[in-house]
Amino acid sequence: MNQFSKIGFTLAAAGSAVGLGNIWRFPYVTGEYGGGAFVIIYLIAIVFIALVMFLAEVAIGQYSQKDISTSFVKISKSKNKVWGIGGFPAITSLIVLSFYSVVLGWVLSFFVKSFTYLPENAKIAKENFTSLMSGDVGMLIFYHTIIASIVVFIVLKGIIEGIERANLILMPLLGLILIGLFVYAFNLESFPKAVSFMFSPDFSKINNEAVLAALGQAFFTLSLGMGTIMTYAASLPKENNIVKSSINIALIDTIIAIVAGLIIFSFLFEAGAKSSAGPGLVFISLPVIFNSWGVLGHIIAVAFFIALLFAGITSAISAIEPTLKIFVEKFGMTRVKATVIGGLIFYFFGILAILSMSKIYGEHLTFFGKNLFDWMDFGTSSILMPIGAIFVSIFLGFFVEKKILEDIFLRFLNKSIFNFWYFLLKFIVPLVIVIIFLNKLGIIGDS
Ligand code: PHE
Repeated sequence: MNQFSKIGFTLAAAGSAVGLGNIWRFPYVTGEYGGGAFVIIYLIAIVFIALVMFLAEVAIGQYSQKDISTSFVKISKSKNKVWGIGGFPAITSLIVLSFYSVVLGWVLSFFVKSFTYLPENAKIAKENFTSLMSGDVGMLIFYHTIIASIVVFIVLKGIIEGIERANLILMPLLGLILIGLFVYAFNLESFPKAVSFMFSPDFSKINNEAVLAALGQAFFTLSLGMGTIMTYAASLPKENNIVKSSINIALIDTIIAIVAGLIIFSFLFEAGAKSSAGPGLVFISLPVIFNSWGVLGHIIAVAFFIALLFAGITSAISAIEPTLKIFVEKFGMTRVKATVIGGLIFYFFGILAILSMSKIYGEHLTFFGKNLFDWMDFGTSSILMPIGAIFVSIFLGFFVEKKILEDIFLRFLNKSIFNFWYFLLKFIVPLVIVIIFLNKLGIIGDS
């Protein structure tokens, strides 16, 4: 039987959750919104919104033990085949994977370069980054190809031999590297400054947009709305305590985001750099700081980028799994055939994403002022993921017998906590998602 062991599931789902979102995105978004207060709102969003959704996805997966499309039909009140449309998040995760693999290609290229080269100042660092993005198509395709091959190689081997084993190796290594980097950061003079930046709240810096960014980040980081968690949970034996696993996964994810933040802000403050550099924080600001630390800087840089790579690969392999499971279980393909087809799809769209950022081909792949890469990012995180999440919450809240959910959860939760979860899932989560959704589409307040 191809099922996760208990620790295997927790590690694999944590591997999916912990990714570029934690180490690259969380620190720069926190920096942009001024630190402490943003972190508090983020933590509230994790506990009361994202964890609630996470439990919902795990419950559907574990109950049904099927691909996501079939899962919805199986757990629904009506058993109507129409619920099979719930399988659409597989498309979302495949699109995410297309550009995620490209970004992991950047990380890989920074990892390789850091052995011998680090930029001297911010201007050079910025030039390097932009010229890689816009001019070096061959190089980017080369690195994307390596990442795509690694992902395909791992998932080809299936749940236990591939996914569980990769996580069993990569996650502890990631933990060790982060501990090493943390110990180094802890001994820097600027460490207390990083702590106070991240934990002393200044609520005057918080506006609508910051609250919505915190919510969006909470969803993205727990891999919600994409069928990923549901798919992994479908390979989780029924007797496993999903409440305990889910809490552990959210805890691991949150601790790693906070630790990554403390490391990166200590580095930035030590060099007197700004905390609000945006997406270039990791690819532009950090390499310059590493350069100023001489040989040690190269070692730290290599360790940092490999940590980012490990975190990202364990997320990437989770993103292809919903599609593979549908191909295999619903369309009857072999795992090899499913992997080859799924792999070719995201590889091809990744190449288009790369071309869309280049000087030469960019204009042919730019539509309504956004290139394809940006469309993939925007379309998934702002449109498809929220729709996927709201579908799950409304579906479970209104189209599934409450009794089934009680049978699943009352083994692990007392009744009043269960009822609180159910209330949040049925009413609060959809409301919050609608608000995020409308805001991201620019329909309500962007002040
Ligand atoms: N949770 C991942 C991160 O934080 C993002 C992701 C979601 C990746 C789903 C793959 C699939 O980076």
